[in-house]
Amino acid sequence: MYVCMCKGVTDHRIRREVDDGARSWRDVREATGCGTQCGKCACTAKAITREAVSEARAEADMGLAYAI
Ligand code: FES
Repeated sequence: MYVCMCKGVTDHRIRREVDDGARSWRDVREATGCGTQCGKCACTAKAITREAVSEARAEADMGLAYAI
């Protein structure tokens, strides 16, 4: 779904940025432009970013557990 209508950013795009290494709202904002125009999407986009980063960290932790 579209999160940011001004910049045409979807939730998939935010998750892809996190998969590609973004680890903060600032990283996502700089990579996508999301939230840089009217700002109405910022709250939702931050929540999606937070959730995606948590999932990425959990997956990384699982990888470490298997490595031991
Ligand atoms: S909807 Fe995202 S900046 Fe306007």
